[in-house]
Amino acid sequence: MTATNAEPLRAQRPVLHFTPPEGWMNDPNGLVCFAGEYHLFYQYYPHDRVWGPMHWGHAVSRDLVHWEHLPLALIPDEAGMCFSGSAIVDWHDTSGLFGGRPGLLAFYTVHRQAEDDPADYVQEQCLAYSQDRGRSWQKYAGNPVIASPGFKDFRDPKVIWHAPSRRWVMALACGQAIQLHVSDDLLSWRLASTFGEGQGAHTDGPWECPDLFELPVEGAAEDAPATRWVLVVGVCAGEQDDFGSFTQYFVGDFDGERFHNENPAERVLLMDEGRDFYAVQSWSDLPAEDGRRLAIAWLNNWLYANQIPESGWRGAMSFPRELSLVGTPEGIRMRQTFAVELLGSSERRSVPVATVPSEFGPGEHRLVEAGSATAHGRLALELRPDTVIALDLQQGRQFSLRLSHDGARLHLEHRRDGRNGDAAFDRHYPHRLGRELPTGGAVTLEWLIDHGSLELFLDGGRLSLTHLSFADPDQRPVVLRVEAGACRVIDARYHRL
Ligand code: FRU
Repeated sequence: MTATNAEPLRAQRPVLHFTPPEGWMNDPNGLVCFAGEYHLFYQYYPHDRVWGPMHWGHAVSRDLVHWEHLPLALIPDEAGMCFSGSAIVDWHDTSGLFGGRPGLLAFYTVHRQAEDDPADYVQEQCLAYSQDRGRSWQKYAGNPVIASPGFKDFRDPKVIWHAPSRRWVMALACGQAIQLHVSDDLLSWRLASTFGEGQGAHTDGPWECPDLFELPVEGAAEDAPATRWVLVVGVCAGEQDDFGSFTQYFVGDFDGERFHNENPAERVLLMDEGRDFYAVQSWSDLPAEDGRRLAIAWLNNWLYANQIPESGWRGAMSFPRELSLVGTPEGIRMRQTFAVELLGSSERRSVPVATVPSEFGPGEHRLVEAGSATAHGRLALELRPDTVIALDLQQGRQFSLRLSHDGARLHLEHRRDGRNGDAAFDRHYPHRLGRELPTGGAVTLEWLIDHGSLELFLDGGRLSLTHLSFADPDQRPVVLRVEAGACRVIDARYHRL
Protein backbone atom coordinates (compact mmCIF):
# COMPACT_ATOMS: atom_id res chain seq x y z
CA MET A 1 0.00 0.00 0.00
CA THR A 2 1.22 3.49 -0.74
CA ALA A 3 1.08 6.31 1.78
CA THR A 4 -1.11 9.16 0.68
CA ASN A 5 -0.95 12.67 2.02
CA ALA A 6 -3.73 11.99 4.48
CA GLU A 7 -2.29 8.87 6.13
CA PRO A 8 0.21 9.17 8.98
CA LEU A 9 3.73 8.14 7.99
CA ARG A 10 5.08 4.84 9.30
CA ALA A 11 8.62 3.69 10.06
CA GLN A 12 9.89 0.51 8.49
CA ARG A 13 13.42 -0.89 8.77
CA PRO A 14 15.55 0.06 5.80
CA VAL A 15 17.48 -2.71 4.05
CA LEU A 16 20.69 -0.90 3.11
CA HIS A 17 20.80 1.92 5.62
CA PHE A 18 22.29 1.32 9.01
CA THR A 19 19.85 1.52 11.95
CA PRO A 20 20.42 0.78 15.65
CA PRO A 21 19.04 -2.48 17.06
CA GLU A 22 16.64 -0.48 19.25
CA GLY A 23 16.38 2.92 20.89
CA TRP A 24 17.65 6.26 19.66
CA MET A 25 20.57 7.01 17.32
CA ASN A 26 22.06 10.26 16.07
CA ASP A 27 25.54 11.15 14.71
CA PRO A 28 28.02 8.67 13.24
CA ASN A 29 31.19 8.67 15.36
CA GLY A 30 34.67 7.21 15.29
CA LEU A 31 34.65 6.04 11.67
CA VAL A 32 37.87 4.11 11.20
CA CYS A 33 39.08 1.22 9.10
CA PHE A 34 41.30 -1.35 10.81
CA ALA A 35 42.21 -4.98 10.16
CA GLY A 36 39.81 -5.24 7.22
CA GLU A 37 36.83 -3.87 9.16
CA TYR A 38 34.94 -0.60 8.78
CA HIS A 39 33.99 0.58 12.24
CA LEU A 40 30.86 2.64 12.74
CA PHE A 41 30.23 4.06 16.19
CA TYR A 42 27.23 6.24 16.79
CA GLN A 43 25.53 8.52 19.28
CA TYR A 44 23.21 6.14 21.04
CA TYR A 45 20.58 6.11 23.74
CA PRO A 46 19.54 2.46 23.97
CA HIS A 47 16.88 2.93 26.67
CA ASP A 48 14.40 5.15 24.85
CA ARG A 49 13.46 6.30 21.39
CA VAL A 50 14.26 9.95 22.04
CA TRP A 51 17.63 11.59 22.68
CA GLY A 52 19.01 10.84 26.16
CA PRO A 53 22.33 10.29 27.96
CA MET A 54 24.73 9.59 25.13
CA HIS A 55 26.58 6.29 24.71
CA TRP A 56 28.69 5.19 21.74
CA GLY A 57 26.96 2.31 19.96
CA HIS A 58 29.17 0.19 17.72
CA ALA A 59 28.99 -1.93 14.55
CA VAL A 60 31.48 -3.31 12.04
CA SER A 61 31.29 -4.23 8.39
CA ARG A 62 33.60 -5.67 5.77
CA ASP A 63 31.62 -4.41 2.79
CA LEU A 64 29.70 -1.29 3.95
CA VAL A 65 26.45 -3.16 3.28
CA HIS A 66 26.21 -5.81 6.01
CA TRP A 67 26.75 -4.56 9.55
CA GLU A 68 27.35 -6.60 12.66
CA HIS A 69 26.18 -5.00 15.90
CA LEU A 70 28.76 -5.05 18.69
CA PRO A 71 28.43 -4.23 22.40
CA LEU A 72 28.32 -0.60 23.53
CA ALA A 73 31.77 0.99 23.19
CA LEU A 74 31.45 3.97 25.56
CA ILE A 75 28.99 4.43 28.41
CA PRO A 76 28.30 7.62 30.35
CA ASP A 77 29.74 7.79 33.89
CA GLU A 78 30.17 10.39 36.63
CA ALA A 79 32.38 12.44 34.25
CA GLY A 80 29.41 12.87 31.91
CA MET A 81 27.83 11.66 28.68
CA CYS A 82 29.87 10.55 25.67
CA PHE A 83 29.22 12.99 22.83
CA SER A 84 30.46 12.81 19.25
CA GLY A 85 34.03 12.33 18.12
CA SER A 86 36.39 10.39 15.89
CA ALA A 87 38.76 7.42 15.92
CA ILE A 88 42.15 6.73 14.37
CA VAL A 89 44.66 3.92 14.19
CA ASP A 90 47.73 4.72 16.28
CA TRP A 91 49.98 2.70 13.96
CA HIS A 92 53.30 3.37 15.71
CA ASP A 93 52.02 3.53 19.27
CA THR A 94 52.69 7.25 19.44
CA SER A 95 50.37 7.47 22.44
CA GLY A 96 52.33 4.78 24.32
CA LEU A 97 49.05 3.05 25.18
CA PHE A 98 49.61 -0.08 23.07
CA GLY A 99 52.91 -1.63 24.19
CA GLY A 100 54.55 -0.94 20.82
CA ARG A 101 51.76 -2.40 18.70
CA PRO A 102 49.11 -0.57 16.64
CA GLY A 103 45.82 0.15 18.41
CA LEU A 104 42.63 2.17 18.12
CA LEU A 105 42.11 5.56 19.75
CA ALA A 106 38.72 7.25 20.06
CA PHE A 107 38.44 10.97 20.82
CA TYR A 108 35.08 12.03 22.19
CA THR A 109 33.50 14.89 24.09
CA VAL A 110 32.43 14.46 27.67
CA HIS A 111 29.26 16.42 28.31
CA ARG A 112 28.47 17.07 31.97
CA GLN A 113 25.34 18.95 32.84
CA ALA A 114 24.08 20.45 36.06
CA GLU A 115 21.49 18.19 37.70
CA ASP A 116 18.87 20.91 37.96
CA ASP A 117 19.52 22.62 34.64
CA PRO A 118 20.38 20.77 31.39
CA ALA A 119 21.24 24.10 29.77
CA ASP A 120 24.10 24.51 32.25
CA TYR A 121 26.89 22.22 31.02
CA VAL A 122 30.60 21.75 30.53
CA GLN A 123 32.22 19.99 27.56
CA GLU A 124 35.76 18.64 27.38
CA GLN A 125 37.73 16.36 25.07
CA CYS A 126 38.57 12.85 26.19
CA LEU A 127 40.31 9.77 24.89
CA ALA A 128 39.53 6.06 25.00
CA TYR A 129 41.63 3.22 23.60
CA SER A 130 41.17 -0.34 22.45
CA GLN A 131 43.85 -3.01 22.24
CA ASP A 132 41.53 -5.65 20.76
CA ARG A 133 40.28 -4.31 17.39
CA GLY A 134 37.61 -2.19 19.02
CA ARG A 135 35.95 -5.02 20.94
CA SER A 136 36.54 -3.36 24.33
CA TRP A 137 37.42 0.19 25.30
CA GLN A 138 39.22 1.79 28.24
CA LYS A 139 38.86 5.44 29.09
CA TYR A 140 42.27 7.09 29.37
CA ALA A 141 43.31 7.80 32.98
CA GLY A 142 44.64 11.25 32.04
CA ASN A 143 41.28 12.54 30.75
CA PRO A 144 40.39 15.18 29.77
CA VAL A 145 43.07 15.66 27.13
CA ILE A 146 41.65 19.13 26.50
CA ALA A 147 39.84 20.77 29.40
CA SER A 148 36.97 23.17 28.90
CA PRO A 149 38.22 26.64 28.01
CA GLY A 150 35.04 28.09 29.48
CA PHE A 151 33.04 28.06 26.23
CA LYS A 152 29.86 26.06 26.54
CA ASP A 153 29.76 24.50 23.10
CA PHE A 154 33.16 22.89 22.70
CA ARG A 155 32.88 19.50 21.11
CA ASP A 156 33.10 16.82 18.43
CA PRO A 157 36.88 16.26 18.03
CA LYS A 158 37.96 15.02 14.59
CA VAL A 159 41.57 13.83 14.64
CA ILE A 160 43.68 13.40 11.50
CA TRP A 161 47.33 12.79 10.65
CA HIS A 162 48.92 15.69 8.74
CA ALA A 163 51.79 14.08 6.84
CA PRO A 164 53.69 17.22 5.69
CA SER A 165 54.09 18.57 9.24
CA ARG A 166 54.26 15.06 10.74
CA ARG A 167 51.74 15.98 13.39
CA TRP A 168 48.28 15.08 14.57
CA VAL A 169 45.59 17.69 14.09
CA MET A 170 42.26 17.94 15.91
CA ALA A 171 39.38 19.95 14.46
CA LEU A 172 36.97 20.95 17.23
CA ALA A 173 33.67 22.80 17.10
CA CYS A 174 33.75 25.76 19.43
CA GLY A 175 30.71 28.05 19.45
CA GLN A 176 30.31 29.11 15.83
CA ALA A 177 33.91 28.39 14.85
CA ILE A 178 36.32 25.50 14.33
CA GLN A 179 39.44 25.34 16.44
CA LEU A 180 42.47 23.47 15.12
CA HIS A 181 44.71 21.89 17.74
CA VAL A 182 47.99 20.07 17.03
CA SER A 183 49.85 17.31 18.86
CA ASP A 184 53.00 15.20 18.58
CA ASP A 185 51.92 12.47 20.99
CA LEU A 186 48.10 12.41 20.71
CA LEU A 187 47.86 13.16 24.44
CA SER A 188 48.83 16.83 24.79
CA TRP A 189 47.31 19.35 22.44
CA ARG A 190 48.09 22.96 21.53
CA LEU A 191 45.57 25.38 19.99
CA ALA A 192 47.02 26.44 16.61
CA SER A 193 44.23 28.50 15.01
CA THR A 194 40.52 29.26 14.84
CA PHE A 195 38.45 29.45 11.66
CA GLY A 196 34.91 30.59 11.12
CA GLU A 197 34.13 34.15 12.05
CA GLY A 198 32.42 35.81 9.09
CA GLN A 199 32.85 32.64 7.02
CA GLY A 200 30.03 30.68 5.40
CA ALA A 201 26.69 30.05 7.08
CA HIS A 202 25.84 30.93 10.68
CA THR A 203 22.50 30.52 12.46
CA ASP A 204 21.57 31.04 16.11
CA GLY A 205 22.88 27.53 16.81
CA PRO A 206 26.43 26.22 17.23
CA TRP A 207 28.72 24.74 14.60
CA GLU A 208 29.17 21.00 15.16
CA CYS A 209 30.89 17.84 13.94
CA PRO A 210 33.79 19.15 11.83
CA ASP A 211 35.74 17.03 9.38
CA LEU A 212 38.96 17.93 7.57
CA PHE A 213 40.57 16.08 4.66
CA GLU A 214 42.56 16.54 1.49
CA LEU A 215 41.30 15.46 -1.94
CA PRO A 216 42.67 15.49 -5.46
CA VAL A 217 40.94 17.93 -7.83
CA GLU A 218 39.59 16.64 -11.07
CA GLY A 219 39.83 19.14 -13.89
CA ALA A 220 42.18 21.45 -11.96
CA ALA A 221 43.84 24.27 -13.91
CA GLU A 222 47.36 23.30 -14.96
CA ASP A 223 49.09 25.94 -12.86
CA ALA A 224 46.94 25.22 -9.77
CA PRO A 225 47.73 22.74 -6.98
CA ALA A 226 46.53 19.20 -7.68
CA THR A 227 44.73 18.86 -4.32
CA ARG A 228 42.63 20.94 -1.95
CA TRP A 229 41.63 20.67 1.69
CA VAL A 230 37.99 20.46 2.62
CA LEU A 231 36.59 21.54 5.96
CA VAL A 232 33.09 20.17 6.62
CA VAL A 233 30.94 21.77 9.30
CA GLY A 234 27.50 20.93 10.65
CA VAL A 235 25.36 23.99 11.31
CA CYS A 236 22.83 23.38 14.03
CA ALA A 237 19.37 24.81 13.63
CA GLY A 238 18.50 28.03 15.32
CA GLU A 239 15.16 27.86 17.14
CA GLN A 240 13.60 30.24 14.64
CA ASP A 241 15.04 28.53 11.63
CA ASP A 242 12.62 26.65 9.37
CA PHE A 243 15.23 24.62 7.50
CA GLY A 244 16.84 23.04 10.54
CA SER A 245 20.32 21.53 10.74
CA PHE A 246 22.44 21.32 7.59
CA THR A 247 25.99 20.64 6.44
CA GLN A 248 28.27 23.19 4.82
CA TYR A 249 31.82 22.84 3.55
CA PHE A 250 34.77 25.08 2.77
CA VAL A 251 37.43 24.45 0.12
CA GLY A 252 40.95 25.74 0.49
CA ASP A 253 44.35 25.09 1.88
CA PHE A 254 45.59 23.74 5.20
CA ASP A 255 49.24 24.08 6.22
CA GLY A 256 49.06 21.94 9.36
CA GLU A 257 48.09 24.88 11.58
CA ARG A 258 45.67 27.08 9.67
CA PHE A 259 42.82 26.55 7.25
CA HIS A 260 42.48 29.13 4.47
CA ASN A 261 39.13 29.38 2.64
CA GLU A 262 39.77 30.05 -1.05
CA ASN A 263 36.21 31.17 -1.76
CA PRO A 264 34.77 34.57 -0.79
CA ALA A 265 34.04 34.47 2.96
CA GLU A 266 30.31 34.92 2.49
CA ARG A 267 29.96 32.10 -0.06
CA VAL A 268 27.96 29.23 1.44
CA LEU A 269 28.63 25.77 -0.01
CA LEU A 270 26.15 23.12 1.02
CA MET A 271 27.19 19.52 1.03
CA ASP A 272 23.56 18.49 0.69
CA GLU A 273 20.52 20.60 -0.10
CA GLY A 274 17.97 18.16 1.30
CA ARG A 275 16.68 18.35 4.86
CA ASP A 276 18.18 15.17 6.30
CA PHE A 277 21.93 14.95 5.94
CA TYR A 278 23.73 15.90 9.13
CA ALA A 279 26.80 15.29 11.29
CA VAL A 280 28.64 13.77 8.33
CA GLN A 281 31.99 12.12 9.05
CA SER A 282 34.55 10.41 6.84
CA TRP A 283 36.44 7.20 7.49
CA SER A 284 39.98 7.39 8.74
CA ASP A 285 42.75 4.95 7.79
CA LEU A 286 41.34 3.40 4.64
CA PRO A 287 44.13 1.33 3.10
CA ALA A 288 46.36 3.55 0.92
CA GLU A 289 45.61 1.42 -2.15
CA ASP A 290 41.90 2.14 -1.71
CA GLY A 291 42.44 5.87 -2.06
CA ARG A 292 38.79 6.84 -1.49
CA ARG A 293 37.29 9.35 0.92
CA LEU A 294 34.15 7.66 2.21
CA ALA A 295 31.66 9.39 4.43
CA ILE A 296 28.37 8.73 6.14
CA ALA A 297 25.79 11.05 7.69
CA TRP A 298 22.85 10.89 10.02
CA LEU A 299 19.64 10.94 7.95
CA ASN A 300 17.81 13.41 10.08
CA ASN A 301 17.22 16.99 11.11
CA TRP A 302 17.27 18.27 14.68
CA LEU A 303 14.07 20.24 13.99
CA TYR A 304 12.01 17.04 14.09
CA ALA A 305 14.48 14.21 14.85
CA ASN A 306 12.78 13.29 18.13
CA GLN A 307 9.36 13.14 16.48
CA ILE A 308 9.93 11.16 13.27
CA PRO A 309 7.94 7.93 12.91
CA GLU A 310 9.53 5.09 14.88
CA SER A 311 8.96 1.44 15.57
CA GLY A 312 11.26 0.46 18.41
CA TRP A 313 14.28 2.29 16.96
CA ARG A 314 14.65 5.83 15.70
CA GLY A 315 17.30 7.15 13.32
CA ALA A 316 19.18 5.85 10.28
CA MET A 317 22.50 6.58 8.57
CA SER A 318 22.95 7.53 4.93
CA PHE A 319 24.46 4.95 2.64
CA PRO A 320 28.28 5.49 2.60
CA ARG A 321 29.30 8.00 -0.06
CA GLU A 322 32.46 8.63 -1.96
CA LEU A 323 33.52 12.29 -1.99
CA SER A 324 35.60 13.98 -4.66
CA LEU A 325 36.43 17.49 -5.86
CA VAL A 326 35.86 18.84 -9.32
CA GLY A 327 36.82 22.12 -11.02
CA THR A 328 33.77 24.14 -12.18
CA PRO A 329 33.36 27.64 -13.62
CA GLU A 330 32.42 28.84 -10.09
CA GLY A 331 35.40 27.21 -8.41
CA ILE A 332 36.23 23.83 -6.96
CA ARG A 333 33.18 21.98 -5.66
CA MET A 334 32.38 18.70 -3.98
CA ARG A 335 30.91 15.82 -5.89
CA GLN A 336 29.30 12.76 -4.35
CA THR A 337 28.31 9.30 -5.39
CA PHE A 338 27.36 6.10 -3.58
CA ALA A 339 30.21 3.86 -2.48
CA VAL A 340 30.59 1.22 -5.23
CA GLU A 341 29.80 -1.51 -2.70
CA LEU A 342 26.13 -0.50 -3.09
CA LEU A 343 25.76 -2.33 -6.36
CA GLY A 344 27.97 -5.32 -5.63
CA SER A 345 27.24 -7.79 -8.42
CA SER A 346 24.79 -5.44 -10.04
CA GLU A 347 24.08 -7.46 -13.19
CA ARG A 348 22.12 -9.91 -11.12
CA ARG A 349 19.94 -7.11 -9.84
CA SER A 350 19.48 -5.10 -12.93
CA VAL A 351 15.82 -4.67 -13.95
CA PRO A 352 14.58 -4.01 -17.50
CA VAL A 353 13.80 -0.39 -18.23
CA ALA A 354 12.05 1.36 -21.12
CA THR A 355 14.05 1.20 -24.33
CA VAL A 356 16.60 3.99 -24.44
CA PRO A 357 17.74 6.19 -25.96
CA SER A 358 14.34 7.42 -27.01
CA GLU A 359 12.32 10.58 -27.05
CA PHE A 360 9.20 10.96 -24.94
CA GLY A 361 6.44 13.45 -25.78
CA PRO A 362 3.57 14.65 -23.56
CA GLY A 363 1.99 11.98 -21.37
CA GLU A 364 2.95 9.44 -18.71
CA HIS A 365 5.74 7.00 -19.43
CA ARG A 366 6.69 4.10 -17.23
CA LEU A 367 10.46 3.80 -17.22
CA VAL A 368 10.32 0.85 -14.84
CA GLU A 369 7.10 -1.15 -14.58
CA ALA A 370 7.36 -2.49 -11.04
CA GLY A 371 10.06 -1.10 -8.80
CA SER A 372 11.35 -2.47 -5.55
CA ALA A 373 11.21 -0.86 -2.10
CA THR A 374 15.02 -0.75 -2.02
CA ALA A 375 16.48 0.25 -5.34
CA HIS A 376 19.15 2.22 -7.13
CA GLY A 377 18.46 4.14 -10.33
CA ARG A 378 20.31 6.26 -12.83
CA LEU A 379 18.92 8.50 -15.56
CA ALA A 380 20.51 10.74 -18.15
CA LEU A 381 17.97 13.13 -19.64
CA GLU A 382 17.93 15.88 -22.18
CA LEU A 383 15.03 18.29 -21.98
CA ARG A 384 14.18 20.12 -25.17
CA PRO A 385 13.64 23.88 -24.78
CA ASP A 386 10.24 24.72 -23.24
CA THR A 387 9.88 21.31 -21.66
CA VAL A 388 8.46 20.53 -18.25
CA ILE A 389 8.73 17.05 -16.76
CA ALA A 390 7.82 15.43 -13.46
CA LEU A 391 9.53 12.31 -12.17
CA ASP A 392 8.02 9.85 -9.76
CA LEU A 393 10.93 7.89 -8.30
CA GLN A 394 8.37 5.62 -6.59
CA GLN A 395 7.64 8.11 -3.83
CA GLY A 396 4.06 8.71 -4.92
CA ARG A 397 2.18 11.77 -3.79
CA GLN A 398 4.33 12.55 -0.79
CA PHE A 399 7.33 13.56 -2.90
CA SER A 400 7.42 15.41 -6.20
CA LEU A 401 10.29 16.32 -8.44
CA ARG A 402 9.87 18.60 -11.46
CA LEU A 403 12.35 19.88 -13.98
CA SER A 404 11.70 22.63 -16.50
CA HIS A 405 13.91 23.96 -19.25
CA ASP A 406 13.20 27.43 -20.61
CA GLY A 407 15.73 27.23 -23.40
CA ALA A 408 18.58 28.64 -21.33
CA ARG A 409 18.28 27.32 -17.80
CA LEU A 410 17.13 24.19 -16.08
CA HIS A 411 14.94 24.69 -13.07
CA LEU A 412 14.41 22.07 -10.38
CA GLU A 413 11.46 22.04 -8.02
CA HIS A 414 10.65 19.49 -5.42
CA ARG A 415 8.17 19.06 -2.66
CA ARG A 416 7.87 16.75 0.29
CA ASP A 417 4.65 16.30 2.22
CA GLY A 418 3.59 14.10 5.08
CA ARG A 419 2.42 14.12 8.67
CA ASN A 420 2.38 11.80 11.66
CA GLY A 421 0.16 13.68 14.07
CA ASP A 422 2.98 15.23 16.11
CA ALA A 423 2.71 19.02 15.99
CA ALA A 424 6.46 19.73 15.66
CA PHE A 425 6.89 17.09 12.98
CA ASP A 426 3.80 18.10 11.03
CA ARG A 427 4.92 21.71 11.04
CA HIS A 428 8.54 21.22 10.05
CA TYR A 429 8.59 18.13 7.85
CA PRO A 430 6.83 19.42 4.70
CA HIS A 431 9.34 21.04 2.40
CA ARG A 432 9.63 22.95 -0.88
CA LEU A 433 12.78 23.64 -2.84
CA GLY A 434 13.23 25.59 -6.06
CA ARG A 435 16.67 25.83 -7.59
CA GLU A 436 18.47 26.42 -10.83
CA LEU A 437 20.88 23.85 -12.21
CA PRO A 438 23.83 25.03 -14.27
CA THR A 439 23.35 22.29 -16.82
CA GLY A 440 21.28 23.62 -19.74
CA GLY A 441 18.83 20.97 -20.90
CA ALA A 442 20.94 17.91 -20.07
CA VAL A 443 20.89 16.44 -16.59
CA THR A 444 21.77 13.22 -14.80
CA LEU A 445 20.05 11.76 -11.76
CA GLU A 446 21.22 8.95 -9.52
CA TRP A 447 19.19 7.81 -6.55
CA LEU A 448 18.83 5.25 -3.83
CA ILE A 449 15.48 4.58 -2.24
CA ASP A 450 15.04 2.46 0.82
CA HIS A 451 12.40 2.29 3.53
CA GLY A 452 12.45 5.74 5.07
CA SER A 453 14.74 7.66 2.74
CA LEU A 454 15.55 8.98 -0.69
CA GLU A 455 19.14 9.95 -1.51
CA LEU A 456 19.34 11.77 -4.82
CA PHE A 457 22.32 13.12 -6.76
CA LEU A 458 21.83 15.43 -9.72
CA ASP A 459 24.23 16.91 -12.20
CA GLY A 460 26.81 14.14 -11.93
CA GLY A 461 26.75 14.27 -8.12
CA ARG A 462 27.34 18.03 -7.86
CA LEU A 463 23.95 18.53 -6.24
CA SER A 464 22.94 16.19 -3.46
CA LEU A 465 19.41 16.03 -2.03
CA THR A 466 18.88 13.70 0.89
CA HIS A 467 15.49 13.32 2.47
CA LEU A 468 13.63 11.20 4.89
CA SER A 469 10.75 9.85 2.91
CA PHE A 470 8.34 7.39 4.42
CA ALA A 471 6.34 6.15 1.44
CA ASP A 472 6.19 2.43 0.94
CA PRO A 473 7.28 2.20 -2.68
CA ASP A 474 7.00 -1.54 -3.20
CA GLN A 475 6.08 -2.43 -6.76
CA ARG A 476 5.52 1.19 -7.76
CA PRO A 477 6.62 2.13 -11.24
CA VAL A 478 9.23 4.78 -12.00
CA VAL A 479 7.31 7.31 -14.05
CA LEU A 480 8.38 10.12 -16.33
CA ARG A 481 5.54 12.55 -16.97
CA VAL A 482 6.13 15.00 -19.78
CA GLU A 483 3.87 17.95 -19.05
CA ALA A 484 5.03 20.05 -22.00
CA GLY A 485 7.58 19.71 -24.77
CA ALA A 486 9.73 16.61 -25.12
CA CYS A 487 12.40 14.79 -23.20
CA ARG A 488 15.04 12.44 -24.52
CA VAL A 489 16.07 9.66 -22.18
CA ILE A 490 19.66 8.94 -23.08
CA ASP A 491 20.37 6.34 -20.44
CA ALA A 492 18.30 4.59 -17.79
CA ARG A 493 19.41 1.93 -15.31
CA TYR A 494 17.62 0.38 -12.40
CA HIS A 495 18.79 -2.10 -9.78
CA ARG A 496 16.66 -3.95 -7.30
CA LEU A 497 18.65 -4.16 -4.05
C1 FRU B 1 25.28 16.85 16.49
C2 FRU B 1 25.44 16.84 18.00
C3 FRU B 1 26.90 16.96 18.37
C4 FRU B 1 26.94 16.34 19.74
C5 FRU B 1 25.93 15.22 19.61
C6 FRU B 1 25.19 14.93 20.88
O1 FRU B 1 24.14 16.24 16.03
O2 FRU B 1 24.66 17.88 18.57
O3 FRU B 1 27.39 18.28 18.33
O4 FRU B 1 28.21 15.89 20.08
O5 FRU B 1 25.03 15.61 18.60
O6 FRU B 1 24.44 13.77 20.77
